Amino acid sequence: MTVKEIFETMDYGPAPESAKEALSWIADRDGKFGLYIGGKMTAPGDLFDSKNPATGEVLAQLTQATPDDVDAAVSAARKAQRKWAALSGHERAKYLYALARLVQKHSRLFAVLETLDNGKPIRESRDIDIPLVARHFYYHAGMAQLQDAELPDREALGVCGQIIPWNFPLLMLSWKIAPAIAMGNAVVLKPAEYTSLTALLFAQICEEAGLPKGVVNIVTGDGRVGEAIVTHEEVDKIAFTGSTEVGRVIRRETAGSGKSLTLELGGKSPYIVFDDADLDSAVEGLVDAIWFNQGQVCCAGSRLIVQEGIADRFYAKLRARMDKLRMGDPLDKSIDVGAVVDPVQHKRITELVDAGAGDGELYQAPCPIPTAGCFYPPTLITGLSPASSLMQEEIFGPVLAATTFRTPAEAVEIANNTRYGLAATVWSENVNLTLDIAPKLASGVVWVNGTNMFDAAAGFGGVRESGFGREGGWEGLQAYTKPRGAVKALKPIAAFPAPKEAKVDALDRTAKFYIGGKQARPDGGYSQAVWSKQGDLLGHVGVANRKDIRNAVEAAHTAAGWSKTTGHLRAQILYYIGENLSARSGEFAARIDAMIGGRNGAKEVDAAISRLFTYAAWADKYDGAAKPVPMRGVALAMHEPVGVIGGFCPDEAPLLGLVSMMAPSIAMGNRVVLAASEPFPLAATDFYQVLDTSDVPAGVVNIVTGNHAELAAPLAGHLGVDAVWTQSGADISAIVEGESAGNLKRTWVNNAKARDWFGPAGEGREFLAHATEVKTIWVPYGE
Ligand code: NAI
Repeated sequence: MTVKEIFETMDYGPAPESAKEALSWIADRDGKFGLYIGGKMTAPGDLFDSKNPATGEVLAQLTQATPDDVDAAVSAARKAQRKWAALSGHERAKYLYALARLVQKHSRLFAVLETLDNGKPIRESRDIDIPLVARHFYYHAGMAQLQDAELPDREALGVCGQIIPWNFPLLMLSWKIAPAIAMGNAVVLKPAEYTSLTALLFAQICEEAGLPKGVVNIVTGDGRVGEAIVTHEEVDKIAFTGSTEVGRVIRRETAGSGKSLTLELGGKSPYIVFDDADLDSAVEGLVDAIWFNQGQVCCAGSRLIVQEGIADRFYAKLRARMDKLRMGDPLDKSIDVGAVVDPVQHKRITELVDAGAGDGELYQAPCPIPTAGCFYPPTLITGLSPASSLMQEEIFGPVLAATTFRTPAEAVEIANNTRYGLAATVWSENVNLTLDIAPKLASGVVWVNGTNMFDAAAGFGGVRESGFGREGGWEGLQAYTKPRGAVKALKPIAAFPAPKEAKVDALDRTAKFYIGGKQARPDGGYSQAVWSKQGDLLGHVGVANRKDIRNAVEAAHTAAGWSKTTGHLRAQILYYIGENLSARSGEFAARIDAMIGGRNGAKEVDAAISRLFTYAAWADKYDGAAKPVPMRGVALAMHEPVGVIGGFCPDEAPLLGLVSMMAPSIAMGNRVVLAASEPFPLAATDFYQVLDTSDVPAGVVNIVTGNHAELAAPLAGHLGVDAVWTQSGADISAIVEGESAGNLKRTWVNNAKARDWFGPAGEGREFLAHATEVKTIWVPYGE
């Protein structure tokens, strides 16, 4: 192209980044890579090809790890972990800091290698991915430094298995490895099979940083390697980012295993444009929302929801912008859109668009499509109905599906009409409107007048089928730590048996359920007797079934207004419950003593009253945070209720246990469906009257009695339940985790671990964290 021609077209000339260094890094290793285990690279094993998606050429050959390799990696991590955790936070911080420095030092090599391997534009790997990787290690070096002082009650989990996808290979690695090792865990990480090279380069810098052997282990290969990690007995935690489908498989596979789990899954994030938005900025935002990384972003703004009055104008501006997008060699610094990761993904995108585009009007950027490699043009499909497959399915490609709305309420309705809940973007010049909408969106992240902003200080993660757990910020550390201290095994408690010659009780004293603020009879019409240790009949309780659970969940849904009440109001009601319990403390104490056959009843009632006061106190004090992110904005971490929480109450302290699960939940604005202690249900059924007299709105607290093993599946499998807690033993934990896979609800299970309900472990921040979602809301702020 001559200078004259350039002036005539004002087109960019090519500005290719050299691949020389990256290719020679690969060539120096003969193009064949083993695994990184115990601080050493193993000899290459069974090899598979890793290709450059922009050319289709083979870049390198990688080892498909065997189950024995995974075993070796887990053993190496196990061996290293104790010593690593025993170092001071400061010692660990120095290693993380060294890793951050080395990422910066080798940043160009990392960026070019990432682009070659993944197909993303070099502008993105150089200016976004790799700087954020370094930021993540710096930030978490700080977390390691502060751990001893700020998190004295929490400790590392042990060995973490981490499985990551191919869309941000090194960035996802840093999101996983940095917080894990900062807190004293050792890791076995599996990169995605399409994009493992930067993880292997990272292994090299672990050596350069002198990281103790075995703290980081990297095994390559396909989903079978992931499965071997997930099912390995010696792994304490699985952190997964990838498809909802595989997330669900992992949820089922880890059920009942005692492993912690966080899942960061798919999305179909709404991008809402109001008629008073700065339309040019909103168009530019869309380029970042859906064409950044070819739309292969879990939180991509892939559903455009635009106000009807400006829709045509906005679409026209958008098409004009699309006309200027440049697609081509990802190593060319002046291109906007690179290659999708693999022919498999290309085929998937093509098929989804071909199947769904007929419902709307298709527009594709007119940029030339390179003939070699996996390129898919930026695509806009307008006029879709909210139910169209393109509005519902995660495409994971550069495809924007659009629809319109009339009112803010309709915008929220369409935005929330999805099974996902990862992120959302709102554009309007009216800050009142954006901040009115933000809390109404079912998503873990909301961006106001901006999009796809990420930072190590700000929590990231979803609700609904987008998974659970947060990465980044203080909240992200929750996923890599557990309460400090030894744990006792839970001793199962059986109900006292019926005596051989039971006395006949003339009075019918069958306690019902408490559903929707009323006492309800069991649907099945069955009840069971409760006997004292001495063989006295204390009463009967109903035996709940699936239908009773459904009724209770429905009642909880009718009380949705509770989630919108103020913490101040909820505090008043909790104090009131405490006061009313206190007025009847003697009666409750006697009941507990009779049921359990002990003398601790008075102590238990006192502790329950105190606990109610504790959560009344917390109701308006579990503060969110304002995160100082390094860009023009602030990220607000807001605590929101989870929704409807199901719970299986413990047997060790039948009243205190129930209160310990109910009070933090309702203090944070949740509604609950609780199954009372199975052997000792009467303290719960007596408690109905306390609730009745304490102004608790109908449906906020629902209590049933019956067999936990029979109720676990219907409660944990119910799609209207957002989280399930169980303190009812290992079998129930396994059912709850397994059944929760349906809508990927959050679970909090005790497995076979006992909890001291009377001590500090019975209350506090751990409960509050489980009773809330952190929603990160990015708002413009400052210069
Ligand atoms: P995937 O979920 O299969 O792969 C993610 C990671 O999980 C890879 O490392 C893979 O090897 C591993 N894996 C696969 N099966 C496994 C198993 N049974 N147990 C343990 N690990 C396993 O994602 P895939 O097939 O690469 O992409 C398919 C679709 O998933 C995409 O089109 C997109 O819709 C979605 N996806 C979403 C991502 C996100 O960040 N939300 C990331 C990647 C894919």
